[in-house]
Amino acid sequence: MTLQLRIYVPPHPLIKHWLAVARDAATPSVLFRTAMTELGRWLTYEAAREWLPTLETTVNSPLASCPATLIDPEMPIAVVPILRAGLGLLEGAQTLLPLASIYHLGLVRNEETLQPSCYLNKLPEKFDPQTRVLITDPMLATGGSIMAAMAELTHRGVDPVLTRIVCVVAAPPALQQLSAAYPGLIIYTATIDETVNDQGYIVPGLGDAGDRIFGT
Ligand code: URA
Repeated sequence: MTLQLRIYVPPHPLIKHWLAVARDAATPSVLFRTAMTELGRWLTYEAAREWLPTLETTVNSPLASCPATLIDPEMPIAVVPILRAGLGLLEGAQTLLPLASIYHLGLVRNEETLQPSCYLNKLPEKFDPQTRVLITDPMLATGGSIMAAMAELTHRGVDPVLTRIVCVVAAPPALQQLSAAYPGLIIYTATIDETVNDQGYIVPGLGDAGDRIFGT
């Protein structure tokens, strides 16, 4: 079976609503943060389908024993927010994945070369190869940061097939690079926009996600 990058844009009214709020230039930081939290929550909810490891067991209800499905507490789950902007999606993701380990990865892009450099790396030396990894990064634009993040993760034993990316706006340059390098990967995004301008911003996009989350 040949693997192909899969990109899901869930047709959910809550996702569409919070995307519209986030896109609006008049939205203040406090509401923009709410939009990011909600998008993190609903996109993670979608990503968790057929990704969260479960185990079959039985539970005793007050009346009888019955078959039941639980999230497998032994299977490692990791969330990797790409700083800064990925922090905006983290709270929503964490409410659904309370047992996940959080590994921060700080990448900043040079505004002239658009190349990322890493200023914080809390990843472990090696991941258990069964680890389910969810990366949060709201803007997949030129692809520089997400490709650097994937290289760090796979170098440490992460399986791209067990990896999900939750983002808000994805653009073709990033998607093309991910598709060529990591065909087993699955992406959940609120939208796919058409272009990235000369400064590396997605158009129409939503502007600088980090600046809008933190108001700085
Ligand atoms: N990062 C952002 O915050 N916005 C973009 O449009 C592209 C990258």
